[in-house]
Amino acid sequence: MKLTHDRIERHSGLLILLVILTVAIGGLVEIVPLWFQRSTTQPITGLKPYTALQLTGRDVYIREGCYGCHSQMIRPLRAEVSRYGPYSVAGEFVYDHPFQWGSKRTGPDLARVGGRYSDDWHRIHLNNPRDVVPESIMPSYPWLTKTTLTGDDVANKMRALQRLGVPYTEQDIAQGKEAIQGKTEQDALIAYMQNLGVLLKKTN
Ligand code: HEC
Repeated sequence: MKLTHDRIERHSGLLILLVILTVAIGGLVEIVPLWFQRSTTQPITGLKPYTALQLTGRDVYIREGCYGCHSQMIRPLRAEVSRYGPYSVAGEFVYDHPFQWGSKRTGPDLARVGGRYSDDWHRIHLNNPRDVVPESIMPSYPWLTKTTLTGDDVANKMRALQRLGVPYTEQDIAQGKEAIQGKTEQDALIAYMQNLGVLLKKTN
């Protein structure tokens, strides 16, 4: 036994191989069950795929880098739950590809911002945050009202998500373009935010 250990310590290649093997087993035992557990793979009751408008708003959110200052994940800690509402669960995000959890919080977490403010509040806030929150350091996004959506690419986006397991119907996809045509990027972004986290907020 002692001799074997001696051999391992003297051969760095063998040592590295065995270390990798040990860490891999540890990792697999922790990670693989998560792929199959109901609580991490199944949508929570009532979860619906994003509408065409919300989905487009989500892309605006990603394009503008909102995630650079806002997380979307409430941790199960008392301070977080008192401030933001029920903590986030994996089943809320199964249709998010990619999810927007983030970790940087220059601004507040947005996981349950849906319904917290009116659409009009969001419009003013996005055009110039200081009009509603005088001390805000959030940038203004006035150009979002200036781009009207054509809806040309939304069907393709929905189809791509469908391949990843998001249950869009053929009807959803066919009607996507019509549903968003003529709306602005700001309309889409607000529709997305108003839907964030509302399911668990309602039931808890
Ligand atoms: C440079 C950092 C920064 C960026 C980038 C940023 N925000 Fe903010 N955001 C803040 C700060 C700070 C606050 C808190 C002050 C305020 O309400 O304006 C805030 C507040 C908010 C609020 C109000 C949240 C609440 O619960 O009161 C919303 C909604 C919001 N931001 C949405 C967005 C969206 C959408 C984007 C991208 C288009 C964005 N933010 C980009 C910093 C940022």
